Amino acid sequence: MAYETIEVRVEADKVGVITLNRPKQLNALNDQLMNELGAALKAFDADENIGCMIVTGSEKAFAAGADIGAMAKYSFADTYKGDYITRNWETIRSIRKPVIAAVSGFALGGGCELAMMCDFIIAADNARFGQPEIKLGVIPGAGGTQRLPRAVGKSKAMDMALTGRMMDAAEAERAGLVSRVVPYDKLMDEALGAAIIVAGFSQIAVMAAKESVNRAFEGTLSDGVMFERRLFHALFATQDQKEGMDAFMNKRTANFTHQ
Ligand code: HXC
Repeated sequence: MAYETIEVRVEADKVGVITLNRPKQLNALNDQLMNELGAALKAFDADENIGCMIVTGSEKAFAAGADIGAMAKYSFADTYKGDYITRNWETIRSIRKPVIAAVSGFALGGGCELAMMCDFIIAADNARFGQPEIKLGVIPGAGGTQRLPRAVGKSKAMDMALTGRMMDAAEAERAGLVSRVVPYDKLMDEALGAAIIVAGFSQIAVMAAKESVNRAFEGTLSDGVMFERRLFHALFATQDQKEGMDAFMNKRTANFTHQ
């Protein structure tokens, strides 16, 4: 499929890399971009050879938010009836293989929300995160008021959502919003390194780990622990579990076949 607002490539034969590509608008997220991003993620998810994905932007902007120009004139009726602006964001949640956000520059509004919808965030030292929607007379609309407090706690999330201020990479790492911060020129190497490691493991175990960690944000602790236990036990039905443990016992590298 030919894309106009994203670029897609495969690295190391097993990592799908998606680069948001509306540089003039600082990767503002319009309908076309979100459709293309969803399609590209789904295609990588369905590709047996791909074990992990990376979503990234440019040096200046991961994404500066939903496209304000595209939504400025909408009425409530437009947005509500057509589920406008938000309708194609849910696709990302349906992706079962891991998706890493490699964030440089601005990750604002929907850009911050998109990063948080990924499984973890690796940030360049110039990254800036924020939910500035309040300055536009609205609030976050793609999970920002829900995922940000889960990531950084109530006080910082309220501060971000109510003042619209930005958080730099160091603060984002301290707060637990991002898993690692590296100099900008090392960002893709770091993200690719992580993705290649993930893609080298059993796809079944990786998908189970993602599904189980995500359960921590839904429901109760005891339900989550039981969900994890069931998946843990189920993995003993895979060849990859036999291979992984046999490889350890015999001091050799495991060769996972994703079965
Ligand atoms: C449309 C945008 C944009 C956006 C930037 N641009 N952000 N266009 N939607 N979200 C455009 C600018 O209009 C400008 O176009 C060009 O990109 C460069 O931006 P500048 O403002 O000139 O750059 P700079 O001075 O460096 O400032 C960068 C910035 C600022 C701080 C990121 O652009 C900014 O504050 N952007 C808006 C951020 C925001 O409010 N995001 C939340 C959106 S609401 P021209 O044509 O003038 O060169 C949202 C809701 C999510 O995300 C709902 C989820 C579904």
